This record gives sequence, C-alpha cells and structure tokens, in this order.
Amino acid sequence: MPDWSKIEAAPRTTLNDLFAADADRLSSLTLDVSGIHFDWSKTHLTPELIAMFETLAGEAGLVAKRDALFAGEVVNVTEGRAVEHTAQRGEGAAESVDLARAQHARMRALIDAIEAEALGPIQHVLHIGIGGSALGPDLLVDALGHDGVRYDVAIVSNVDGIALETALEQFDPHATIIAVASKTFTTTETMLNAESALAWMTEAGVEDPYGRVIALTASPEKAVEWGVDETRILPFSESVGGRYSLWSSIGFPAAMALGYEAFEELLEGAAEMDRHFRFTELTKNAPVLAAFADLYYTQVRRLSTRAVFAYDERLRLLPDYLQQLEMESNGKGVTADGQPLDRPSAPITWGGAGTDAQHAVFQLLHQGTHVVPVEFLAVIEAGDALDEQHHRQLLLNAFAQGAALMKGRGHEDAARAYPGDRPSSTLLLNTLDPRTLGALVAFYEHRTFVNAAMLGINAFDQFGVELGKEMAKAADAGDQDLDPSTAALIERALG
Ligand code: F6P
Repeated sequence: MPDWSKIEAAPRTTLNDLFAADADRLSSLTLDVSGIHFDWSKTHLTPELIAMFETLAGEAGLVAKRDALFAGEVVNVTEGRAVEHTAQRGEGAAESVDLARAQHARMRALIDAIEAEALGPIQHVLHIGIGGSALGPDLLVDALGHDGVRYDVAIVSNVDGIALETALEQFDPHATIIAVASKTFTTTETMLNAESALAWMTEAGVEDPYGRVIALTASPEKAVEWGVDETRILPFSESVGGRYSLWSSIGFPAAMALGYEAFEELLEGAAEMDRHFRFTELTKNAPVLAAFADLYYTQVRRLSTRAVFAYDERLRLLPDYLQQLEMESNGKGVTADGQPLDRPSAPITWGGAGTDAQHAVFQLLHQGTHVVPVEFLAVIEAGDALDEQHHRQLLLNAFAQGAALMKGRGHEDAARAYPGDRPSSTLLLNTLDPRTLGALVAFYEHRTFVNAAMLGINAFDQFGVELGKEMAKAADAGDQDLDPSTAALIERALG
C-alpha cells in the first residue's frame, strides 16, 4: 500500500516563497515535449515533493502498470480486457498494432471511395454518436477545421430532437452520408437519432438511405443486424474504450473533414507522446508530473475540483472532452480489486474558454473560499489573421491570470484583497496542428492513467453510468417500481 504520510507531512510553503527560495525553480518545473511547453512552476510541486511522489509511484507499481498497458495485458480487470488505444497509433502489442493498421487502411479506402463519388456526390457528414463517440471527433473537427474543411460535418449527440433538427436544416439529404458511431451499437440516443436521420432521407426521396450509412463500431454484427452493409462498416477493437476511441474509426468525420493525412499526423503526434510517457524517467515525464500535481491537490490539499481554461477558441471544446476522459475514467469509489477507495478519487473537471471565463467565473478563482488548481492552455502561433493585437491580448491575459492568482494583493479593505497562493499550470503549444493536438490528447490520457494507477483505480470501466440508463428503459416500459417523486414527474410530463 502506498504510504502518503510523508507527502502529507511535507512543509507547506507559499508559491511566492518557493520562487524566492529557489533560483532554479523554473528550469526544474518546466518541460518541453512534442511542441508543448509545460510549466508547473506555479504549482506547489517542488523537487523534494516530486522525489516523494516518485517513491510513492514505486509503492503503487506505476512503472509495471504502465508497461502492462503497452504490452496489451488485461489492465481493465473488471471487464477482462486489454486497453488498446495506444495500439491505434502504433504503440502497443504487435498484433493489436497490426489489426489497428488494417482497420485504418479500411477507413482510408472508404474515404477515398466516397471522394471518388462511390456513394454519389457527397458534401455533408452527419455524425451521430454520444459520449466518447462524439466528444473526440467534435474536438478534432472544431480545433483543426478553422481554416477550412473538405466536407461539412455536424455532430449530433443529444437525444433532444432539437439537436438533430438543427443539424438537418443545414444539410441536403441527397448530398449527405450518415456516420453512426457507437462502440456497442445499442446506445438509445444514437440509435433513435440514426433512425430519425434515415427517415429524413427517406422523406426527401433519397433512393437507398441505408446505402448512405457508415457504421463506426466495435460491434459489427449489431450494425449488420440494424441494416448496414458489411462493406460500409468500419470496425475497431472492443479493447479501445469509448472515451479513448477518437484514434479509431470513431475519428472518421475528422479524417473526412481534415483529410486522411491530417488524421495520420494526429496519430503520429499521439505516438510521440506515448513514447515519451513509456520511456522517459518519471521525474522528467510530462503526464507523470502533471498527475503528481493533480494528486498533490486532490490527496494532500483535498481540493475537489480542477479547472481548465483554453485561451484559444479552437480548443474551446477541450474542457468538455476532458470531463468525460477524467471523470468517467477516475470518478470511482472502489479500487481495481474491488476494495473501497479510502482516499478522494478524481477531482471534478470543469472549465471554459479564456478570455470569456475571466468575466464570468474568475471572481471565485481569485477570491472565493474554494481553492481551484487552474490549468491554462495557449498557443503561440495565432489561429486568426486579424490585427496581431487580438492574439497578443489573448496570451497576455492568460499569463496575467496565472500571475495574479499566485501573487495576490493585500488591501486594507478585505473585499478588495486577493489572498494569492492559488496554483496554476500552463501548457503553451507552439502551434495547433494535428500532430500537436494528437500529442496533447495523448498527454491527457496518460495523465489520467497515472492518476488512476497511483490510487489503484481501474480507469477503463464505467459501471456508474448504467443504473440511470436501465431506469430510463424500465420507466419507458411502464415499470411501476418508482419512487413517488419520479412517478409523479413522469405522469405530469408524459401522461
Ligand atoms: O454512457 C457511457 C458510455 O458508455 C460512454 O462510455 C461511451 O463513450 C458512450 O456511452 C457511448 O457509447 P457507445 O459508443 O457504445 O454508443
């Protein structure tokens, strides 16, 4: 059992004092990997704390767990599966890598066929999926499609019909393909949206609506049963988790919109981060150090949330993506061997886009009673072609917020005083291209894994989402065993 007592007893020095006491602080707490500059110097990590975490990592078996992940061992123990998202980018057990390559080649061939008008002239991709089958592709297309896309993409996830209606209004049914993205091919929201999209095509007189459907799934037999022709099924392995699946055929809309070469660069960027995580010593390892900072705040300071602010419009969907990655992976109450977790699990991830968030939630960050570790993301190369003042102001604001949170300011009027000593880290990307985005997302995946490994959690199951789904199905089937409040709400709303 990892012994947290030393870390818990470590002296607590303010950030301002840490800087004053250590002239080398910046160099010992910054790192450059894959076009990303990581700066943890405004966190309370110190070389001494990192050494203590390294000892703790030894006790938690972090290196063995990491090696087991890449070796394709069954690390998702509760579901009896290996975890193969790194194999999608070429890093993992040889046979999983070979299978992923064959599946990618199939995706590429279908994309080429669509471009050659094998399905008629296509302009629009209607991607239907939810959770990991939507958040990843949405992030990719939004972040990298700013300078133009080869096809218009709409990603519809919510079962609320407004979402689908809004997407359909933009598209010509005769020039659309429907990508049904579902690992299980049973998810209620996705299957209902897919059926309504088919009905839209039928009503518009599209000759063979099923002939316009591409299935992105780890359950090809279910897709065939539902009516998709085998030639238009892009399968991926059962061992690729939903929230880790954007590298598989779930990334199809991104590969369509951005071009297959861009998708390949994304995979290569992720593979570079995989190799960094796999082969670099723990104290110089970006996902590991980031997780050490996370653990310091959740486990030692007992802070229950962390906030991510993207100071770049192109990354505005990143906080949403991270919410699923981090909270669905590590929001657990038991360890991998079924024992109650006797420490806090994952923090609540939240955030938004800067500078907007400064004018909405930063009041609490600067002066509220909750201390929230903040992560700033920014990109050196501007994504816009306007006057350079825009990008200058954007970056200056990101950096100034971190400085202000740390520095604080005294004032005789308490309402105008800033306590300071509020931690933040900064990720500064040289540019936002597919390769860097791939590395960034892989960094977050591995950081999530390290957090789990240090706490003994299985990051790859998600049983917590099942009960609510089952109860919705039971209620739909007229299950009478409902509490009075829920029964009354159903009666009032649905009769
Ligand atoms: O609700 C949980 C979940 O299983 C996620 O883990 C997953 O990403 C999402 O639903 C969608 O599942 P599927 O891809 O099987 O439709």
